[in-house]
Amino acid sequence: MEYSAAISRPLIFDCDPGQDDAISLIMALSPGSGLDIRAITVVAGNTSLAKCQRNARMIADMCGRTDVPIHAGCDAPLKFPLATAEEVHGVEGLDGLEIYEPDLPLQSEAAVDAIIRLCRTVDNIVLVPTGPLTNIATALTRAPDIAARISEIVIMGGARAEAGNITPSAEFNIFVDPHAAKIVFDAPVKKTVFGLDVTHKALIRDAHVDRIKALDTDMGRRLTAMLRSDYADYDRAKFGTAGTPIHDACTTAYLLQSDIFSFKSVNVQIETESALTRGHTSVDYWQMTDRPRDCDWAVDVDADQFFELMIDRIAAY
Ligand code: RIB
Ligand code: CA
Repeated sequence: MEYSAAISRPLIFDCDPGQDDAISLIMALSPGSGLDIRAITVVAGNTSLAKCQRNARMIADMCGRTDVPIHAGCDAPLKFPLATAEEVHGVEGLDGLEIYEPDLPLQSEAAVDAIIRLCRTVDNIVLVPTGPLTNIATALTRAPDIAARISEIVIMGGARAEAGNITPSAEFNIFVDPHAAKIVFDAPVKKTVFGLDVTHKALIRDAHVDRIKALDTDMGRRLTAMLRSDYADYDRAKFGTAGTPIHDACTTAYLLQSDIFSFKSVNVQIETESALTRGHTSVDYWQMTDRPRDCDWAVDVDADQFFELMIDRIAAY
């Protein structure tokens, strides 16, 4: 499967694995993806930093990608205590996958230092955060000069019409560290944002998992077990849907085939003060303010093409 819009710019994936982070990484790291991944940086979110970094190393090991350096980052939000999501992802953060301690090493360089170094030395770099934005915000605060060198920040986070998945008015990644999100969304950098509005339009269903199982490969078997674990049932039960959103995979799908998504240019502001609406993404969808429209907000996706792309990448192993 050729990807007509595959991005050629160098990439840093910043994540909190998490099953959907795992699928996003597996797609990106897959043989023939053509993506230029310079580093994977890890942030606390779905579970502790220690488990998220072990999970990131395990995923890269499963993909046979010992060439991609993995760096551990922030273990807590900028101001709030860490809130995790073990009830969704399991106590190890990857319910359904057999957990092991990979030989693949963690880099000694901290994630924020790596992000700053790569932004300063690599032209046209793209950041792809799929967890709380603590690492990205810390890098931007410590090294404001990098904002001008970042080509695009491709974010999984936020919600407009879909309201929230951790509170009635906030999506998890933004809720966990709204102060970091404010720094990133206020930064003078182009942002492409995949919130619940679009991730809830691409729900993986049993027929898709049957196709992954039918691949009859080690990767296919592992992902089938993961996609048939309690993780898959959590959102179905919560939202009463017949499928499960694979939120973070939208970022990689965009990098590979941007034209399966449609976008609207908007401004996004983050609620950081209210206890009731902490982490709310205030999306200026109808241009009611003169704030800069520096976010491409994903509004729709061709779900069939999305899953063809996902299964094609999984089949590449
Ligand atoms: O709200 C969904 C997001 O929160 C995903 O990135 C998931 O992995 C969790 O981090
Ligand atoms: Ca995530």
